[in-house]
Amino acid sequence: MKKILICGAGGFGREVQWLIERINQKEPIWQIEGYLDDGVESGTEINGYKVLGGLEKLREYDDSVSVVCAVSSARIREKIVLGIRKTGDFQFPNLIDPDVQASTFISMGEGNIICAGNILTVNIVIKDFVILNPACTTGHDAVLESFVTVHSGVNIAECVRIQKGVELGTGSKIIQGKIIGANTLVRPASLVNRDLPSDCIAAGLPAKPVKFYGAKHKKLLITGASGHGKVIFELAMETGVYQELYFLDDDETLLKTDETVIGNVDFAVRHNGEYDVIVAVGNAFIRRRIQKKYERAGVSLVTLVHPEATISEKTVRIGKGTVVMAGAVIQAGVTIGDGVIVNTSASIDHECEIGDFAHISVGSHLAGNVKIGKNTWIGAGAVISNNVCICDDVTAGAGAVVVKDITESGTYVGIPAKKITK
Ligand SMILES: CC(C)(COP(=O)(O)OP(=O)(O)OC[C@H]1O[C@@H](n2cnc3c(N)ncnc32)[C@H](O)[C@@H]1OP(=O)(O)O)[C@@H](O)C(=O)NCCC(=O)NCCS
Repeated sequence: MKKILICGAGGFGREVQWLIERINQKEPIWQIEGYLDDGVESGTEINGYKVLGGLEKLREYDDSVSVVCAVSSARIREKIVLGIRKTGDFQFPNLIDPDVQASTFISMGEGNIICAGNILTVNIVIKDFVILNPACTTGHDAVLESFVTVHSGVNIAECVRIQKGVELGTGSKIIQGKIIGANTLVRPASLVNRDLPSDCIAAGLPAKPVKFYGAKHKKLLITGASGHGKVIFELAMETGVYQELYFLDDDETLLKTDETVIGNVDFAVRHNGEYDVIVAVGNAFIRRRIQKKYERAGVSLVTLVHPEATISEKTVRIGKGTVVMAGAVIQAGVTIGDGVIVNTSASIDHECEIGDFAHISVGSHLAGNVKIGKNTWIGAGAVISNNVCICDDVTAGAGAVVVKDITESGTYVGIPAKKITK
């Protein structure tokens, strides 16, 4: 029997143990040595096998031992495999459940895990360290690149190409011939009927990219616990990226009474490296001050886009610390700066340029080629006519209609918008 170590003592690790036992029932091949896991106490017993220690334990084994990386997250799995490769030249067998129905016309690399109930037809390419959870189907000529994770009950039609590091959520369906770009996460029960770009989260029927820039952690801090902060909390929940979400606020009463408020604004700096952060403060000057402070401290500022916002694939840029709320529409060629709020159901038409820390309020509409300066606030329901330029530090009141350039900072209201002089 060949020795095998299961790397990862979580739920999927236990499923892999079961898979190995099922292979052994058919033909005794593997002798399970135990689990390796940096996060579980050494000596812990898991379904009859012991956690032997963390990855450093591998140093006690020679290269003849096999290792299976039973970690569902594509990103973490890749990191672990890199670490294992640095430790030694271990074997990474393909573990295929005896219940899998697969033709002989399948090309496979190493380290793949294919669970019970999978059906793989013909001329399929599976590269390295792919996980196919139970009961998935993969059609002819499909290509699954390395470190892809396919959760249970996924249907991959013929000629689909799934690029490196992609995760397909439970029950999602990929229509024939579609390409899913590297590292993209498709949320459960989505229907992918058009190509998806790399590095995004896609969701829905049909699946649309929910662009998500710069996420490094599973925990998010929302600086500002006001109403705007609460909307951002829900938005962040909707992206499905974060497991833990907390507020920060300098309001002493909130700190004492609201258990979701875990610290003041500087908490994010003190805990740099542990959380992603978004600043949820309506006032542009305060938002800018806090975000700049975070930037100087190297805090991980993210960009959040609601799954029900529509963003053209030809949108040029959406800066860091920017939020795009539900129902917002951003068209081709648009550039959006840092720390911007594109609020609920706002629309920004082609080739607009939005300066840093601007706020495009709920239900406001910017026609094509509009330029909005830094810190400028476009009020609820305001309309900005095409080709209009509005300079920095302007407030356009709720319902204002701006038909010509504004070159002087101040507050403008009415139809057509005129400066308020008080
Ligand atoms: C424009 C705005 C900032 C002005 O606020 P303010 O500086 O406190 O001004 P005041 O409320 O004192 O109003 C000054 C004058 O402008 C008028 N005015 C204010 N807002 C106006 C608006 N949106 N449209 C037309 N007239 C407006 C007032 O009636 C008042 O007129 P008066 O002097 O004849 O009485 C504010 O009214 C506004 O529209 N804010 C936008 C709110 C919003 O869109 N929030 C969205 C959050 S997503």
